[in-house]
Amino acid sequence: MTVDLKPALTMVLRQGTHAAHDRLDKRMTALNLFSSHDRYQIFLAVQYLFHRDISDIYSRADVAALLPDIQNRNRLKLIEQDMQDLCVPYPMVRKTPPVVGTLSAAIGWLYVAEGSKLGANVLAKRVQDIGLTDNFGARHLAADAQGRSQSWTGFKAAVDALEWDVATSLRHAEAAFDRVTMHLNRCEPYLQAA
Ligand code: HEM
Repeated sequence: MTVDLKPALTMVLRQGTHAAHDRLDKRMTALNLFSSHDRYQIFLAVQYLFHRDISDIYSRADVAALLPDIQNRNRLKLIEQDMQDLCVPYPMVRKTPPVVGTLSAAIGWLYVAEGSKLGANVLAKRVQDIGLTDNFGARHLAADAQGRSQSWTGFKAAVDALEWDVATSLRHAEAAFDRVTMHLNRCEPYLQAA
């Protein structure tokens, strides 16, 4: 009997981006982005810019071959509805979209977007205090239709069943966290007025 000692890709990505996640979590929490509608607008703008960056990944045929429900996982439309609920204008800023490339690269970006749905559970509870729900303002923080843990388990099972170019996936997962940080850097100054 042979034992496969190779760690699953999602575990490698989790460990490799742990510090970046921690920094972002602490920074967003310290900025109190979930304590008022004005402050939450900044979070929504960051989410909008990031999900606009990655939206094309959700319609790729190679990704659909791996994850047949991929189109339903895209939260860009829900973020747009949240912005409309709260009368948040769409940011005009249009940075060059990231160059994604191979399927290994795409999985790095998707890991960050899909994994962030776990943290969304915590955030959905925080924004209840400011009147935001699955039907108003915090639609994109709700669980996917299949349920939060099923959605994440399904993503991990599909990804971890295959062999990947791990270094490429990790580089792109890091790039995804860098991209969210860049958008937060761009949007944070508007908190002064909030
Ligand atoms: C204040 C902001 C945030 C908080 C409080 C937070 C909190 C959390 C928590 C509690 C988990 C683990 C859930 C579990 O294991 O059941 C998690 C997972 C995750 N979050 Fe966040 N998060 C925040 C922001 C973000 C952002 C902005 C991103 C990226 C866009 C992100 C990406 C991820 C990823 C990729 C995972 C999955 C890690 C893994 O288990 O592999 N998070 N988050």
